[in-house]
Amino acid sequence: MHEISIIGLGKVGLPMAAGFGAAGVKVTGFDSDPGRGELLQTHDPEDRTICLEAGLSAALVKARPNLQAADNIGEALEASDISFVIVPTPSEADGSFSLDYVADAFAEIGQALPHLNRPHLIVLVSTVSPGSVSGTLIGILEKHSGLKLGKGFHLAYSPALIALGDVICGFMQPDFAFVGETHSEGGDQLAAFYRDILPENTPLHRMSAQSVEIAKIALNNFLTMKISFSNLIGQLCNETIGADAHQVLGALGDDHRIGSAYLKPGMPFGGPCLPRDNAALASSLQKAGLASDLPDAAFRINQELMRQLANLTDPGPGKRIAVIGLGYKAGSNLTDESAAIIICNHIAQTGAEVRVGDPQINNMDLTNLDADVQLFADLEEAVRGCDTVLITGYVQTDIDVRSLCLPDTCVIDIGDGFAIKRGNF
Ligand SMILES: NC(=O)c1ccc[n+]([C@@H]2O[C@H](COP(=O)([O-])OP(=O)(O)OC[C@H]3O[C@@H](n4cnc5c(N)ncnc54)[C@H](O)[C@@H]3O)[C@@H](O)[C@H]2O)c1
Repeated sequence: MHEISIIGLGKVGLPMAAGFGAAGVKVTGFDSDPGRGELLQTHDPEDRTICLEAGLSAALVKARPNLQAADNIGEALEASDISFVIVPTPSEADGSFSLDYVADAFAEIGQALPHLNRPHLIVLVSTVSPGSVSGTLIGILEKHSGLKLGKGFHLAYSPALIALGDVICGFMQPDFAFVGETHSEGGDQLAAFYRDILPENTPLHRMSAQSVEIAKIALNNFLTMKISFSNLIGQLCNETIGADAHQVLGALGDDHRIGSAYLKPGMPFGGPCLPRDNAALASSLQKAGLASDLPDAAFRINQELMRQLANLTDPGPGKRIAVIGLGYKAGSNLTDESAAIIICNHIAQTGAEVRVGDPQINNMDLTNLDADVQLFADLEEAVRGCDTVLITGYVQTDIDVRSLCLPDTCVIDIGDGFAIKRGNF
């Protein structure tokens, strides 16, 4: 039976622990917030702040015999052969990822390493900027342990290729997994673990940690470019009488060289990963003295689309406008870098009255939302008396919001797949 520890039981670490535990791996979790560790043994399935994650509640129940919480990092390491580290790496002003939390965790791991009676593999899962593993992190482990990489410990980089809301599936049934190695023995150990746990034939992309550092942010940048490209074509279709963005992009997606995923007109990209990875690639390119036009353009197009969507509501003093759905994507109650919040703020700045409708509102982080925006969990109340209703599609409800609107209300429905559909329903 594999014995692993997971350091950091946040939005990604907790579902990861549940997924591996449910698959028969013995998991010892540690989080500097003891409340997160307790979730391994007790959680309220109705608590939507924790469980708006597909299958998390069921996986935690199934995994329970295999899950335990440690009181400190040393205890977690002692109970395991492999430690996965998944702590925050907030973005710095220049777009690179801060290593502060990882450095703290690695210092503690380093101190614990000499006390272990078996070699240990540390696997960094948090997203880091290119050069971080070899430039900083190996040194922290060596300094605090007094050991040398490859002699007493190994280090690998295997960033999470997951989407919040679907983390367990992302970990347990990935399209592929990264094995970013600093030493072949550590790479062998991680590859053997993945071979045992992941579905047969899951491709393992084994390469240097430096290559994986670039590949992780490059992957998300490809998605942001595809989204911005789709939205640009969507906007052109909207401006062209007789053109239909769905038909145009649908045809392009049938070309096997392009593929249909993310090739739809719709909301601008947002969330805790895509904008950050976009900025991180731009930053890495600039530091390498290379042109960052591609990631910069994807970002600018995205920002511009948010402004255009706000303008499309025809905002201004005396106007009452509803925005329905505030999460950063469908199926999530998270609002990190939510495009809907930025759109609301643009509208509010014109002096219009903005009403947000979202049944998840009680669980959302609304700190970035303009203070004048009014919040309604009841969608009917949110749209009442509005001149314009903008439906983001990121709302969790079975209610057809358009049916709540009066005939003279202007409805802009982005969620039903049209880039921008404007008119009375
Ligand atoms: N959220 C995503 O969609 C996503 C996707 C892919 C990758 N990632 C990456 O995963 C990493 C973690 O993201 P998250 O969303 O889970 O963050 P999070 O803030 O939800 O959770 C991080 C957890 O780490 C804990 N922690 C901090 N320092 C610690 C320490 N020294 N020891 C033990 N625990 C510690 C915190 O208490 C917190 O519970 C980030 O690098 C992020 O970029 C996130």
